[in-house]
Amino acid sequence: MTRIIEPFRIKVVEPLHFTTREEREDILREARFNVFNIHARDVLIDLLTDSGTGAMSSLQWSAIMQGDESYAGAESFFRFKRTVEELTGFTHILPTHQGRAAERILFELVGGEGKVVPNNNHFDTTRANIEHSGAEAVDLVIDEGLDPSARHPFKGNMDIGKLTALIERVGPDRIPLCMVTVTNNLGGGQPVSLENLRAVRSVCDRYGIPFFLDACRFAENAYFIKLREPGQEHRTVREIVREMFDLADGATISAKKDGLVNIGGVLLIRDKELMQRADALLILTEGFVTYGGLAGRDLEAMAQGFEEVVQEEYLAYRINSTEYLGEHLQEIGYQIVEPPGGHAIYVDAGRFCPHILPEQFPGQALVCALYRQGGIRAVEIGSVMFGGGGEPPATELVRLAIPRRVYTKSHIDYVVDTCRELFGLRDTLKGLRMTNSPPYLRHFTAEFEEIER
Ligand code: F0G
Repeated sequence: MTRIIEPFRIKVVEPLHFTTREEREDILREARFNVFNIHARDVLIDLLTDSGTGAMSSLQWSAIMQGDESYAGAESFFRFKRTVEELTGFTHILPTHQGRAAERILFELVGGEGKVVPNNNHFDTTRANIEHSGAEAVDLVIDEGLDPSARHPFKGNMDIGKLTALIERVGPDRIPLCMVTVTNNLGGGQPVSLENLRAVRSVCDRYGIPFFLDACRFAENAYFIKLREPGQEHRTVREIVREMFDLADGATISAKKDGLVNIGGVLLIRDKELMQRADALLILTEGFVTYGGLAGRDLEAMAQGFEEVVQEEYLAYRINSTEYLGEHLQEIGYQIVEPPGGHAIYVDAGRFCPHILPEQFPGQALVCALYRQGGIRAVEIGSVMFGGGGEPPATELVRLAIPRRVYTKSHIDYVVDTCRELFGLRDTLKGLRMTNSPPYLRHFTAEFEEIER
């Protein structure tokens, strides 16, 4: 087998700042055990998110100098539009400053009291925007998607039976659209097959329900389809991406992921009437339709990023390097969401520290331990993120998200080494008590104290 290496060399470097364990102990306390409160300078390897944290290419940086900063009709907008049109086939393309701005516009238009929006798994901002509109967000991923150790090539798939049952139960009139998230971030960065997308499309057609993609990681999803779906191996990623979008009536995209940029988003809508209402809301809250809250240079960088992300050498490296981390953690004994996802590895914290009860936040305890042990920043996806009332989450996960083109293999080896040390110390981890719990998206600003044993 040929070795897959980083398909780039490094032109600009950014120094890392090292801290001692004692310093990190103080930093953690000052941050009230919420790693969102830690200064990035004090983090050695930042795996908090893959969103907006990627490195841009030399071509993206040079495109930035081409930015046309005209208020209306900037050349940069037309370049961006051409690229997205070629990639997705959509002709009405709205730039937004990031993914949730597109979500906010969409759900302000179609959400509201009494409405129900299905998804495989709603990402936290999508759920929050739907609930903020008064509507209900329902997760319908296949059962394998809920079991970290179940191996399935397309664990992000929507359960077609559950979808039909939901539509029959609440009635199609109450469902303004059905969404599928590719890849399924909260379900472990797991892909959705073309076969499943086609099946969702056909259920939506049967009931007259529009079908939307949350397409933040569309290229990673398409690459998994090429690798794993029978009959797709000879198609290009571009062709697969195009079919994914052809199946949809619209999409929200955070370009901070597969747009390979630090800021940017896209809203795609086919329906003329809905599109006009989205234009009006965009102008009201984000900016004119040819810049949507971004600078011309941001549109240039995004256009170039969308070209680069479908390059198959890049995707082979990307998917392979995530898998590398996942397989090494498994070798140590970590239960991860299997198989490794596209952008991140999700550790089952419930299994890692079973002595910590869900109400004492085992995921957050592991996040704190990773920082303490090695200055690594990760994020909890469990009772902190989703436990604020209602059903407790099915899993207590910690996500190690890998920024695009930022860390080398030796950085990842350091993460593996730190995780190996921590594995031996897992019985010493302490649970946490939440001392401040904000009403929305509480993981960003919640505060904790450690429970002494
Ligand atoms: N949808 C999905 C599937 C996402 O992963 C995100 C962001 C969004 C929507 C919102 O996009 O941040 O540009 O407003 N995910 C980041 C993460 C924050 O860490 O997974 P945004």
